[in-house]
Amino acid sequence: MMVDKNYVLVTGGAGFIGSHTVVELIENGMVPVIVDDFRNSNTKMLEGIQKIVGSEVLFHNVDIGNKEGLSLIFGQYNFSGIIHFAADKAVGESVSLPLKYYKNNLGGLINCLECALEFSVDNFIFSSSCTVYGDPDGSTTVTEITPQKEPNSPYGATKQMGERILEDVVKSGAALKVLNLRYFNPIGAHESGNIGELPIGKPNNLLPYVTQTAAGVLEKLTVFGKDYDTPDGTCIRDYIHVVDLAKAHVSGLKWIGNQTGTTVEIVNVGTGKGTSVLEIIHTFEKVSGKQLNWEFGERREGDVEQIFADVTKAKHLIDWEAQKSMENAVIDAWNWEQNLRND
Ligand code: UFG
Repeated sequence: MMVDKNYVLVTGGAGFIGSHTVVELIENGMVPVIVDDFRNSNTKMLEGIQKIVGSEVLFHNVDIGNKEGLSLIFGQYNFSGIIHFAADKAVGESVSLPLKYYKNNLGGLINCLECALEFSVDNFIFSSSCTVYGDPDGSTTVTEITPQKEPNSPYGATKQMGERILEDVVKSGAALKVLNLRYFNPIGAHESGNIGELPIGKPNNLLPYVTQTAAGVLEKLTVFGKDYDTPDGTCIRDYIHVVDLAKAHVSGLKWIGNQTGTTVEIVNVGTGKGTSVLEIIHTFEKVSGKQLNWEFGERREGDVEQIFADVTKAKHLIDWEAQKSMENAVIDAWNWEQNLRND
């Protein structure tokens, strides 16, 4: 077994948030071991990571649904911690294929947890989501103790249930320390332009839709709804630069590594600022110098009117806060899109 280095298991490490986190871990002296089966990512991301860090990354093409395959990897490294990203994440698809989501997202988490306990790896970071708040009542700023609503989709249900599973395992007395990071809306790309978001097929999320429209891959962006009760009538979200989000995992691992005894904590990872869909479009037009082809359409079913994070706890608990601006994120996303099209 390899024990000399600070190995961290990163499931889904070739994905959008995973790849940026791998870079930050390496830059902070840790040795990430990626486990990814590329069902929703591309080997191009590994090449991009290697270009940024200037060295080979450790990686295994294994489906986390394959418990034996996962166990073999746990047997090979002495992991100091686990960051568990690997999951299906398309909200709309989860409504039509709920079993796929329950099987992959919950089954994958359970396999990782069983291995963690079997191999005595006690630091565990779980990719959760602001989707666990559902459509919040009253205030649009949510803290970690804002009561959760019924999830809007099977995807959302897997994130709520994932947190619950982790909590129950900790309550059972297992030697485990858990940090649930509730991500708001990650956007942007690495400033090198070597890694970024790589949606397969038509993107569901706003920013890749914007950049692909500007690049001529898609014809027109539809803004879903113009009559929301917000200053410009469009929905408001807390968009966070993916590199800031990646850094939250480094801070999280440092914090969790210093904890003694078992623990389970929840931290919102956002900027604390809300931005509307129209503001995103205007920022894109300003930074790219391109006019975007867009039109208003109907509201999209299941959309929350506005939600953004109270980020006080992140600062106090794990000593992390977002540094980059929304403008930075839009520039980096556009730069990445242009690199992709030039390839
Ligand atoms: N939007 C458009 N047109 C598009 C795509 C999006 O107007 O083509 C709007 C949406 O209506 C929404 C905003 O852009 O107002 C952001 O939409 P995204 O799909 O990018 O993000 P969501 O906030 O819907 O979804 C995110 C995560 C999910 C998570 C959800 C929880 O991507 O994983 O937040 O609310 F479940």
